[in-house]
Amino acid sequence: MKDIIEVGLKTRKVDFSKIKTDILAVGLFSDVEKLDSLNAMLNKALGGAIQDILKIGDFKARERACTIIYGNEKVGAKRIMLIGLGEKGKVTLDTIRKASAVAAKKTVELKAKTLSLALHNALGKSFDLSEVGQACAEGAYYGSYSYDEFITESEDGRLGSLKVEIVDSDSNKIKNMNKGIVIGTVIGQAQCYSRTIANRPGNIIYPEKVAGLAKELARKSKSLTCTVFNDKQLKEKGMGGIMAVGSGSIHKPVFIVLKHKPTSKKANSLPTVAIVGKAITFDSGGISIKPSASMDEMKFDKSGGIAILSTMKAIAELDLPLNVYGLIPSAENLPSGSSYRPGDIITTFSGKTVEVQNTDAEGRMILCDAIAYAAKEKCDIIVDMATLTGACMVALGKHMAGLMGNDDELMKQIQKASEESGEKVWPMPSSEEYAEEMKSKIADLKNIGTRWGGACTAAAFLKQFVGESKWAHLDVAGVDLISGATDYASEGSTGFGVRLLVAFLKNMANSK
Ligand code: BES
Ligand code: MN
Ligand code: ZN
Repeated sequence: MKDIIEVGLKTRKVDFSKIKTDILAVGLFSDVEKLDSLNAMLNKALGGAIQDILKIGDFKARERACTIIYGNEKVGAKRIMLIGLGEKGKVTLDTIRKASAVAAKKTVELKAKTLSLALHNALGKSFDLSEVGQACAEGAYYGSYSYDEFITESEDGRLGSLKVEIVDSDSNKIKNMNKGIVIGTVIGQAQCYSRTIANRPGNIIYPEKVAGLAKELARKSKSLTCTVFNDKQLKEKGMGGIMAVGSGSIHKPVFIVLKHKPTSKKANSLPTVAIVGKAITFDSGGISIKPSASMDEMKFDKSGGIAILSTMKAIAELDLPLNVYGLIPSAENLPSGSSYRPGDIITTFSGKTVEVQNTDAEGRMILCDAIAYAAKEKCDIIVDMATLTGACMVALGKHMAGLMGNDDELMKQIQKASEESGEKVWPMPSSEEYAEEMKSKIADLKNIGTRWGGACTAAAFLKQFVGESKWAHLDVAGVDLISGATDYASEGSTGFGVRLLVAFLKNMANSK
């Protein structure tokens, strides 16, 4: 396996008229005719080329549009990259994040070694510069990423590393942006890590490997500890849900418990949050087997759990003053002579019994054990993330994750983090009516409802394991992968949830 592109990020104080770089990226609004001072200066040095391209209409500065003008002896940069920011009144931090991603993606395509970002220049004073720096950093990591670990051809291959710098002539601005870059780098790297692990297929990554990665993170970190329950310990603990789902594969299931205890503050006065993620390393459906079309995509069924792993990496690096459990139940769902079957009655970790009516509804079977574990550990807040239902994708498409929960304030906090991080969520119900459908005649619960509202019945199932904790559930089935590359992202895993959860936990740490 070869390494994914290495990205280095920093700030640099420059004189824009003399800047030496492969690419200088600047932003433009689609509805502002007058060029800002930087663009006007560049336009003049380029003999009016920016104005010409706008006048001809080849570049209309629509959001995420990108075009290149080549430098001359009057400008230091080899290329000026114009990035569209859309309408000025609609610009958000996510516009900047995506603009930065577009620039980074294009830079990698061009095999240029250095990208100098001056996107913030178009914004004026309406944004906090630290937040702008963070968004640029996150975007640069996101856009430059592509998953090519297993591509062995090196001929005409991409560069091994990319240098990105955020440039300005004002050292005060630089200082403020740098604060955000430090955070954005941690988050951007964690999200790329998440994408790489999630992109690895089922023959490479299975539960034991996920556990190995968690242990590696703990080894490298001062604040993290990691305990892995193997199949013997799962049995002793009575984690019947995780064991049942993992019983069909030669790769044994595990339950990973990562703990972050901040080194910076006294841990016992702080609230405890559990983040829980589904890590099914491959979901064939089991005995209730899935159709073969697109079944390969079920290698992404570990995305929720991997996002938890990566979030733990980020919050440890940021040393957030919060106690956080990262709980990752992991199994491979395969049919075999030892698989769990439709009709089986499973006693889960909570003591509740579940009648299995469909072995393909396996996510809730492993999550209910992990959630009950968090409740037993008296976590104040539990947030779970899972590629749980195709129904959620039917309801919301591929743009937003479903958000369910039992506490309005917690739901609002997640929605706020969503707005800040650009990872979108939409509220959905999980009320009593849905729980009613999950009652079994021969056990406490069954693992599927009717044909309708599948995302809601799945959430209503999980809700019954949270005990007294405040709980939120994110169904990320629709948002975990991009099937074709876009302007700002390559195909494959999106790493969804890392930015969202880090923003949520960071806000929580700041409010304490
Ligand atoms: N991992 C799937 C959900 C999924 C489907 C994620 C498509 C991404 C894309 C989950 O384990 C599953 O199979 N859910 C079933 C539930 C059903 C049997 C109640 C589903 O959605 O069909
Ligand atoms: Mn399934
Ligand atoms: Zn699944």
